[in-house]
Amino acid sequence: MPDYERAAADRPLASVRRQGRFHPSRFCSKRPPVIAAGSRETLHQPPRHLLAMEGMHPPQIAALLDLAESYALLNRSGKTKRDLLRGQTLINLFFEDSTRTRTSFELAGKRLGADVINMSVSTSSVNKGETLLDTASTLNAMNCDLLVVRHDQSGAPALLAQKVDAAVINAGDGTHEHPTQALLDALTIRRHRGRLEGLVVAICGDVLHSRVARSNIHLLTTMNSRVRVVGPPTLIPSSIAALGVEIFHDMRAGLAGADVVMMLRLQRERMVGGLVPSAREYFRFFGLDAAKLANAKPDALVMHPGPMNRGVEIDSAVADDPQRSVIREQVEMGVAVRMAVLDTLSRGHGRNEP
Ligand code: CP
Repeated sequence: MPDYERAAADRPLASVRRQGRFHPSRFCSKRPPVIAAGSRETLHQPPRHLLAMEGMHPPQIAALLDLAESYALLNRSGKTKRDLLRGQTLINLFFEDSTRTRTSFELAGKRLGADVINMSVSTSSVNKGETLLDTASTLNAMNCDLLVVRHDQSGAPALLAQKVDAAVINAGDGTHEHPTQALLDALTIRRHRGRLEGLVVAICGDVLHSRVARSNIHLLTTMNSRVRVVGPPTLIPSSIAALGVEIFHDMRAGLAGADVVMMLRLQRERMVGGLVPSAREYFRFFGLDAAKLANAKPDALVMHPGPMNRGVEIDSAVADDPQRSVIREQVEMGVAVRMAVLDTLSRGHGRNEP
């Protein structure tokens, strides 16, 4: 159980009950409450939060992707101003750095007509010792409708979801999950391949520290893709096999016949001790270059969630190859996916036509 969930489990429930949105099953569940966790309760009730891909069902994922596809088309047509979220307030609460996720949630919220506030934690009262829960309580008093949270502690968004009235969206928590990243990755793949089922997806690199990998594994295996994880033994936890993936420690074997090659950032800031000898040696064995990519299918897609370490996990020539790389399209799809998520959560029920 993530640290914050454990802490939450020991706290009195009165404040949550007072808010009138208390579900015993949500509080007692070992899984965080998600947009639709697959329980009877969440399948047939309006989704409240998006905290994880784990537990989501294929139709729920497909519905979000369909809606996101509609928004992608709308965004490309230039008709992006809508008033679906007029009068609603979205707060971006980022305790960790972000370029793509924060900006795309801001764009998504504004394109749907919401009032968007970017809370800068570096200049907030968190620096004066305010706790996460006190910050949440303060935001709650301001009647925020949608709270987008990034935090370095796994489980922090799940804890906030129990404490605030707003719909909470996990924008990346520690090494746990980054659900909207997995959704935008899936949308990008589906746009190019027309499906997710049966595709061989190789997720390569620092799987150990990657919330992106975990969310992608949950989504892709749920949608019946065949997922491989590829990397040095120090960066691939053996327990990951329990999620239904194949493990490879050699790029040639791991990429053989792959439809999609998804590279991960080497997360040095999360590493304790020397898990890789040097960036140079890492690139030699596990960095994606044209020679290693030649083992995948000739039309294999190259993906990276960003930010990229060029020359460490990916060669610039591959990252910038318009014939193979869909990295820029991933960023574009990020806005569409986040519009679909905000739309779905704000309405509190299933699919809406944009
Ligand atoms: N992929 C991703 O989460 O990027 P940011 O850290 O820039 O948001």
